Amino acid sequence: MPRNLRLENLTKRYGSLTAVDRVNLEIEEGEFICFLGPSGCGKTTVLRMITGFETVTEGNVIFDGRVINHLIPQKREFGIVFQSYALFPNMTVEENIAFGLKMRKMSRQAIAQRVDQMLDLVGLRDWRHLLPAQLSGGQQQRVALVRALAPDPKVLLLDEPLSALDAKIRVRLRAEIKRFQQELKKTMIYVTHDQEEALSIADRVVVMEKGQFRQVGRPIDIYKCPNSDFVADFVGTSNFFKGVRTDNRVKTKRWEFTIAQTGVTKSEKVVLAIRPEKIEVFRPEESTEHLMLSNLIPGKIDVVTFLGAAVRLVVNVDGEEVVSDVIEKAFEHKGLKQGDEILLYFPPESFLVYPEEEGGV
Ligand SMILES: Nc1ncnc2c1ncn2[C@@H]1O[C@H](COP(=O)(O)OP(=O)(O)OP(=O)(O)O)[C@@H](O)[C@H]1O
Ligand SMILES: [Mg+2]
Repeated sequence: MPRNLRLENLTKRYGSLTAVDRVNLEIEEGEFICFLGPSGCGKTTVLRMITGFETVTEGNVIFDGRVINHLIPQKREFGIVFQSYALFPNMTVEENIAFGLKMRKMSRQAIAQRVDQMLDLVGLRDWRHLLPAQLSGGQQQRVALVRALAPDPKVLLLDEPLSALDAKIRVRLRAEIKRFQQELKKTMIYVTHDQEEALSIADRVVVMEKGQFRQVGRPIDIYKCPNSDFVADFVGTSNFFKGVRTDNRVKTKRWEFTIAQTGVTKSEKVVLAIRPEKIEVFRPEESTEHLMLSNLIPGKIDVVTFLGAAVRLVVNVDGEEVVSDVIEKAFEHKGLKQGDEILLYFPPESFLVYPEEEGGV
């Protein structure tokens, strides 16, 4: 029987503030779940209720078929890694890793074996006798990770574990975390407000806003089919146009776009979203006769940013900014540069259509 973790109408209120609002989720054993959302949306509060460091106002945390709301954290046998490494400063690397094992009264030999195994997992064997202060930030966070993993927790929960590290080390460490998650097949719940991080490591991403789960899905589905303009905005980059829809036409302040999907929303007032890489860029002399005229719009390149594999253009169209990504090869081939007059094409099928909501994008 797999040991699933289930959140059932889980709610946390602090006085009149609802920090977590009736969230539901089933997490399978061995799954890598990321909670993603802006600051203050309730990510840490969900995590703390799962671990038992925060009481539940309403609803249930269910593990392996049992409600565990009232179980103290130690009894849940979950591992936790925080943003700040929180290592014991007066203990060496190996003493830090052994700490949780000693608490469990394992034999000396078993402890020594497990510590070696953990040191190898993160390549820190040669650092075992050093104190935390003698390690770099990335090394300290590796120690914190394996310290939490050493007692073989049933679930490992990580709250923004990499946010204190610099960009390069973050990318390397998150790949390491993903690797040993796959090796150990351990259920992991990982909190981050960095969408790139969430998309790159999770099996499933939970996008949170204001205490609620807005969308749960595989990274590719969240990116390609965001279910609201909030998700389209928070995950990845999107261009937005507000307008009024009649059948497959959407009239915005300046243009009238043709869209492909019309059944998505009944509402007349809509928000169109389109990803930068979906917008096509043409030089004025290129042939565009085969394209739908309504969706072809002239603009001027304002800013060129080199992203590596792609080049990001900020294009001024009638005073409005549109962000378009061109693959580097095409950028070179077309000889694009700042100040160039170009044509932007918005393929009808690339528009995502959402009902316009109060307080939306
Ligand atoms: N102990 C507490 N007492 C009162 N309010 C709290 C408490 N803990 C959290 N909150 C509130 O609950 C909401 C959610 O907080 P939480 O820490 O879960 O957000 P978060 O998504 O983890 O944000 P961040 O990305 O900044 O860490 C916030 O409005 C916060 O002020
Ligand atoms: Mg937090």
